[in-house]
Amino acid sequence: MNTQLQDSIEYLRSKITRVPEIAVVLGSGLGDFAKQIKNPVVIPTSEIPHYPISTVQGHAGKIIFGTLESDDRKSNELIVFQGRIHLYESNDIQKVVYPIRIAAELGVQKLIVTNAAGGINRNFDSGTLMFIRDYINLTGENPLIGTKELNETTSLQKYPTLSTSLLNKAKSIAEMNGILTKEGVYCWTKGPSYETAAEIRMMASMGADAVGMSTVPEIIVAHNYGIEILGISCITNMATGISLTKLNHEEVTETANRVKNDFTKLVNEIIFEMG
Ligand code: HPA
Repeated sequence: MNTQLQDSIEYLRSKITRVPEIAVVLGSGLGDFAKQIKNPVVIPTSEIPHYPISTVQGHAGKIIFGTLESDDRKSNELIVFQGRIHLYESNDIQKVVYPIRIAAELGVQKLIVTNAAGGINRNFDSGTLMFIRDYINLTGENPLIGTKELNETTSLQKYPTLSTSLLNKAKSIAEMNGILTKEGVYCWTKGPSYETAAEIRMMASMGADAVGMSTVPEIIVAHNYGIEILGISCITNMATGISLTKLNHEEVTETANRVKNDFTKLVNEIIFEMG
């Protein structure tokens, strides 16, 4: 572990008494989930030594420790990241995956990673919740480049990078709770500009169901640490050319707001059942 990460970890350890087991990364407009946490320990990321700063609106930088509790249930210990860092903010991919390294070094074994994404699959709608079955990396970037830390054990597992067992469990939890979900392939682009209609047609022909500017680097690093991963995309808009209206960041946050009850319930139930 490098010394910067060590400083960050030491600072966080001084604030908590229990080891987090499940990490949750909340995407654009999905930050409200964190309100469910009982007796939270809330740490603004600006207080953490060396923690990278996010500049995107709707990405309040906070780390929240705690558990979910309802009548007779208590979840495992959580570390929740409210707000994330995108590659387009600095072009420094190590900043993007810094939260995952923190989670891993603190002892996290499972990760729920969420995002706002554009819908490519025409069976989707704005507001669809899509479990990420697999991904396409169109950026040419990889956070393990130059780190000499490729984990032979996890990299040799040919498939899947995302956990099939968590995915199947999550699907049945959604069904039991009457929450409609889909499943598909997430395509990662660098952004920050949205895609062209031609690019979306290309992605569709490659097998992508949704497109976004995050999550894949986090998945790559978490997988390399041997963490079990579940990904959820909130389809906040249909992608360029699929929808004829022009995209903007307000639409992304508006839709995320509209589905946040379902999203929160889904993530809550998954966490309770994750064990
Ligand atoms: N494209 C890329 N990223 C996104 C989109 C989109 O349409 N919607 C939300 N994030």
